Amino acid sequence: MKKKVFVLALLFLLLCGCTREARGEETIRELTVVGFSQVGSESDWRVANTESIRETFCEENGFELIFDDAKQKQENQIAAIRTFIQQKVDYIVLSPITESGWDSVLEEAYDAGIPVIIVDRRIHVDDESLYVSRVGSDFRAEADTAMRWLEHELILRGADKRAQRILHLQGTAGSTAQLLRTEGLEQAVAQNPLWSIAAQLQGAFTEAKAYESTAEFLKTDCEIDVIYCENDNMAFGAMRALDDAGISYGVDGDVIIISFDAVRAALDECLAGNINLCVECNPLHGPRVATIIAQMEAGQVAEKELLVEETYFTQKNLTQELIDSRTY
Ligand code: AHR
Repeated sequence: MKKKVFVLALLFLLLCGCTREARGEETIRELTVVGFSQVGSESDWRVANTESIRETFCEENGFELIFDDAKQKQENQIAAIRTFIQQKVDYIVLSPITESGWDSVLEEAYDAGIPVIIVDRRIHVDDESLYVSRVGSDFRAEADTAMRWLEHELILRGADKRAQRILHLQGTAGSTAQLLRTEGLEQAVAQNPLWSIAAQLQGAFTEAKAYESTAEFLKTDCEIDVIYCENDNMAFGAMRALDDAGISYGVDGDVIIISFDAVRAALDECLAGNINLCVECNPLHGPRVATIIAQMEAGQVAEKELLVEETYFTQKNLTQELIDSRTY
């Protein structure tokens, strides 16, 4: 009897095993496997970006997404790409933390015949054929928009003939968003004899670091006219530090706050008059990457770089309706 039960149980397990295997094979055959290496979750922008990728590359859309959070470390991204190669994914999507240091690992992906799509920030590689396409923002254009707006705003305030000291909060060093937003500011300052940069502080694109850096700075220097924050979360940190120091800011305040991304929480602050300018940086790249993959699947050649159209917001052009209609 015992022997009979054992044989039946074995048969059952074997059948289950076979079924799972068959289902597994079916899944792998049906779905396009995408390995995505994300920088981390430093900002509201990044969270919205991750959501966009996750929503797009889901099973219902015919994808299996292998997601890796690099926790702000390039070495983790490189390790993730190597794992994707071993897993023989169909596509690798890389959201690179910095611009340099990708040549070797992308050569490995290339040799394995796996197409790589770059999302958000740019990369610099000796051989551009190592990646198929890059989709993201024109970070330099964003900075130029901010600088043009500041020039105009100072004229409107009758402050264009007065010296302006700008406190600069920088994002992750070596990332395209940091490099080009910094370049735009520095060029505008070089061209305007009345403008100067009071200090360049590290904010790591996070509210916590920006708060810490700004609070420390304000202990010895409160003569600031503008704070140029390379993203919204750093603006939130700077505003908290200004609150602590009893310094007013925004539309009716002493310090002009400029910020990038235009996530919903920042637009709320902008409508309330606390942030003067929010320059948009759109994080919804999932469908854009899916279009590139669809083109490749159809045997078409994707464009090497796809830049997203963006705008800017102030209290004057914002409405609650517009904020409510925003998905991030
Ligand atoms: O690379 C895009 C930037 O990275 C966003 O402006 C910022 O919020 C994010 O962390």
